[in-house]
Amino acid sequence: MKLKVYKDYNALSISVAGKIIELIKYKPDAVLCLAAGDTPRLAYNLLAQQVSNENIDFTRCSFIGLDEWIGIAPENEGSCSFFLQRHVFNPLHISASQIHLFNGLAEDFLYECEKMDALIAEKKGIDLMIVGTGMNGHIGFNEPGVSFNKYSHVINLDGTTQSVGQKYFTQPTALKQGITLGLNHLLQARKAILIANGIKKADVIHKALEEEISTDMPASIIRLHPDATVMIDEDAGSLLVKNSDAL
Ligand code: F6R
Repeated sequence: MKLKVYKDYNALSISVAGKIIELIKYKPDAVLCLAAGDTPRLAYNLLAQQVSNENIDFTRCSFIGLDEWIGIAPENEGSCSFFLQRHVFNPLHISASQIHLFNGLAEDFLYECEKMDALIAEKKGIDLMIVGTGMNGHIGFNEPGVSFNKYSHVINLDGTTQSVGQKYFTQPTALKQGITLGLNHLLQARKAILIANGIKKADVIHKALEEEISTDMPASIIRLHPDATVMIDEDAGSLLVKNSDAL
């Protein structure tokens, strides 16, 4: 695992956008899985600007959804689908046929999971996963305690995720369950990038990178990935004791 510490959120975001562009230039038909949320928002906005300035071709790649709130419609501003549509798919002019997201209103969630796992297999795996981490160390909706061996599954969200998740919604919303790729998808992705910014993530980053690798801290799984990079700003890295590639 490589650790890159950037001066601030802006520098981090420029570099994250660069990683996506680098992959698409090298492999135009790449399979990407991008997290929603506050952490990657600026990276996606910078990506959209750069892609329109440089005319980079995103017509052959595909996007796999990382997670979704169960019971929340894609039209709801707080959904992961809405976020990705607004910050990634619309600005990059990605067509519907390139997008494969979980449906938070599916009638059969088991089938929804099987469909996603089959699709990823059919596409011969994910080239790049960019994930954030929650205040409880979750990745996607892989909450503390979840096995590292899982593929797509439905999960009861823990209290932290239910309350922190309110920040995405315009009104109080019941967030009881989620549907998510599993941590085995992360381990099997050809490249994994974990990003975090801000002082509020410092404790989670310290635990994930410097305490034992454990299902109690799902983000610690990143250290088991053969080609992983943790990209954080100085604030998120402020509780780290060991040396890193400071940028
Ligand atoms: C979102 C997702 C979540 C977030 C995490 C951090 O698709 O998978 O695991 O990455 O909760 O969220 P932010 O970036 O809002 O702090």
